[in-house]
Amino acid sequence: MKNILVTGGAGYIGSHVVVKLHEHGYNPIIIDDFSNSQHSVIQGIKNITGKDFKVYEGDILDQSLLKKIFGNHKIEGIIHFAAKKAVGESVEKPLYYYKNNVSGLVSLLEVVKEFNVKNLIFSSSCTVYGQPDKLPVTEETPKKPANSPYGNTKQIGEEIIEDTINSGTTLKAIALRYFNPIGAHPSSEIGELPLGTPNNLVPFITQTAAGLRDSLTVFGDNYDTPDGTCIRDYIHVMDLADAHVRCIEYLEVENSDQHFDVLNIGTGRGNTVLEVINAFESVSGLKLNFKIGDRRAGDVEQIFAQVDKSRQILKWETQHSLTEAMRDSWKWQQKLSNKSSSDSVS
Ligand code: UD1
Repeated sequence: MKNILVTGGAGYIGSHVVVKLHEHGYNPIIIDDFSNSQHSVIQGIKNITGKDFKVYEGDILDQSLLKKIFGNHKIEGIIHFAAKKAVGESVEKPLYYYKNNVSGLVSLLEVVKEFNVKNLIFSSSCTVYGQPDKLPVTEETPKKPANSPYGNTKQIGEEIIEDTINSGTTLKAIALRYFNPIGAHPSSEIGELPLGTPNNLVPFITQTAAGLRDSLTVFGDNYDTPDGTCIRDYIHVMDLADAHVRCIEYLEVENSDQHFDVLNIGTGRGNTVLEVINAFESVSGLKLNFKIGDRRAGDVEQIFAQVDKSRQILKWETQHSLTEAMRDSWKWQQKLSNKSSSDSVS
């Protein structure tokens, strides 16, 4: 079985990718520092897959640990998630973000070179496009200056990898530019576990419905969109995970020693914030307590992907609707709420 190293494999997207890797006959190996994830995720993955796998607890800045992992296992490919991802926090702590996301990547690439690993997938983001002039965005859409240190680390990360390959390093890499991942594994064994108050829309909706938050504030209803609220391309995390496995399979057969490319991973459809709330209300049968507030600084009005390139290269199609994603997010939240109420009783 081929070993795939998943950095940040206990995180939201990483954990779903680990499940998919198992399903496709790979042996995922996780390195995670558990700074924004919980150990219970590992058990959740084991419950779904029935498989055991190796988990290294540590930081990708620790090259001695990386070398130990590469020495212990023949690594066929790497999927690199380990990074910080909160936009607001990155504005307050830019050096923390550059250290984790940029120095972390450099640390990993140095060891990749030393051990001659062939295939790499990098977690990038649609944030690299800023507010595009034309929609949908293709991979050719010009990048805009990043509006946060977090966004900048994704732009720089792509460039670091491309420069490394252009310098002659034998490496094939693809940066996947994610749109907005939502949903959870349909078993509710794993899902998103935001620390503290969520920044993202869907966990905020489900936590409000579960009574953990008083109400959701919709950030602005005076945008130039059909209902005045922002538009995003929300993709079920299982579809996103599937794209990673297909990308690993593609890199394995891609017939060159050096290769760099970028792919949009979204659904190709945009939905407004109010449409997401409606989808939630219809799957849950609940009325969500929300109010309209001011625009959030730094939000783009609308963005959604053109996904022709990833469909063609990865032979991949999204399988899940917005409604299914909201259903799975809600099931997951209910499980978390049940667990925490039974924990507090016991
Ligand atoms: C955000 C980041 C983006 C990052 C992505 C990671 C910003 C400006 N952008 O994307 O760089 O890659 O998360 O997941 O932070 N909304 C509300 N009320 C809320 C929360 C969100 O109305 O309480 C709205 C937002 O205005 C936006 C939509 O919901 O229109 C989605 O927001 P969010 O989930 O935070 O994602 P992005 O802003 O697209």
